[in-house]
Amino acid sequence: MKQLIIQGGKKLYGSIAISGSKNASLPILAASLLIDEIIILRNIPNVKDILTMKTLLESIGKKIEFNILKNEIKIYPTKIKKLEALYSLVKTMRAGVLVLGPLIAKYNFARVSLPGGCAIGSRPVDLHIEALKKMGAKIKIEKGYIVAEASKKLKPAKIKFSSISVGATENLIMAATLCKGKTIIQNIAIEPEILDLINFLNCSGAKISFVSKRSIVIEGVDKLRGINYSVIPDRIEAGTYAVAALITNGKITLNKINREMMSNIFQILKKAGAKIVFGKNNSVTISRKIIKPTKIKTMPYPGFPTDMQAQLMSLLCLSKGSSLIKEEIFENRFLHVSELKRMGANIKITNQSANITGIVNLNGAEVMATDLRASVSLVLAGLAAKGTTIINRIYHLERGYENLVSKLKQCGAKIVLKNV
Ligand code: EPZ
Repeated sequence: MKQLIIQGGKKLYGSIAISGSKNASLPILAASLLIDEIIILRNIPNVKDILTMKTLLESIGKKIEFNILKNEIKIYPTKIKKLEALYSLVKTMRAGVLVLGPLIAKYNFARVSLPGGCAIGSRPVDLHIEALKKMGAKIKIEKGYIVAEASKKLKPAKIKFSSISVGATENLIMAATLCKGKTIIQNIAIEPEILDLINFLNCSGAKISFVSKRSIVIEGVDKLRGINYSVIPDRIEAGTYAVAALITNGKITLNKINREMMSNIFQILKKAGAKIVFGKNNSVTISRKIIKPTKIKTMPYPGFPTDMQAQLMSLLCLSKGSSLIKEEIFENRFLHVSELKRMGANIKITNQSANITGIVNLNGAEVMATDLRASVSLVLAGLAAKGTTIINRIYHLERGYENLVSKLKQCGAKIVLKNV
């Protein structure tokens, strides 16, 4: 078992190169199932979820080479072995459900494990299923699997999501790219990762266009071409290290960011007291005087992202006053609260809201990670806390943060990975 040991209280100074986006890479990897030609993907982060998706695609039949030194993946056309995504893989990474849309679009059949819940919520996929049924897919749930078939090809449809879902939007976009005719999808999620998927698909020959802020039209094409494509930077990773600068009262320059994709995150960090100075070629320097209390609720893009909620909470534990965070996206995304309280944080939860009363300092403690973003909020708290923080179950962190320890170490953090 591995632990992270952090000696807190050090101000972090230095620069960090931001990796490619995990949440852009995963749907784009799934979309490779639509394409029978060589695909080269660049700026792919070397994190556990990418390796899991690689294994899943290989189990379906794709031949994949991941050059982790170059952060580059090559996908070769092969004869598909089976149209399945097994529970053993999907249970560890919910994004495995994203092969559902491409498989049924290309092969008229898919048997994909229901992802099941996770720490942050029940994570249903009803929106994915209902929308695919509108396109003519026959879908039944059998022994924990989604069994979807389209006796003939899927048919174009007009779909309006009853609520905004990143994954359902991605699955339906992929399902419609090869579906003859015009499919209209309304009330879609518009996270930058979805725009990157749309851009990837259009670059490979798809015909996807926006007709309004949250509505797109997809004109099915016969086939998609192989391409050489670089995914967008990870805005959540960048936001996380911005908070590392703020919570330790240091100064960190982030390189290789995408400024407009982060404007909503920067807006909130500024409200919390951040000084944000943009530099040349996609860099930004983050520092602060004091940490100001703030009120925020998580929203679908372009609102404040739920994936930054835990990180912001760690910061606000040290603000000068009372803050309020409302989690509007997931029903159970406050698992980091009990661990932060063990480090001395003053947080009260009522329903989906956290009332945070700022304190002078956090104290190091032995804590437990529960999900990807909760884990990193404990790292941030440990960096600022007085004394030593030991973080257990750090496999959660390894799912989504490339070279976290070395990136923090290069800014002066006293952090080590220990096998116990
Ligand atoms: C994606 O998850 C991200 N994962 C999540 O990031 C992110 O937190 C989430 O979008 C919201 O932005 C990836 O991109 C791989 P949703 P996804 O469908 O697609 C409910 C991380 O830390 N819902 O937008 O699963 C759902 O329960 C991860 O990197 C239904 O009710 O999120 C949730 O309450 C965590 N029915 C809300 O919608 C459905 O069919 C938003 O979920 C689908 C979703």
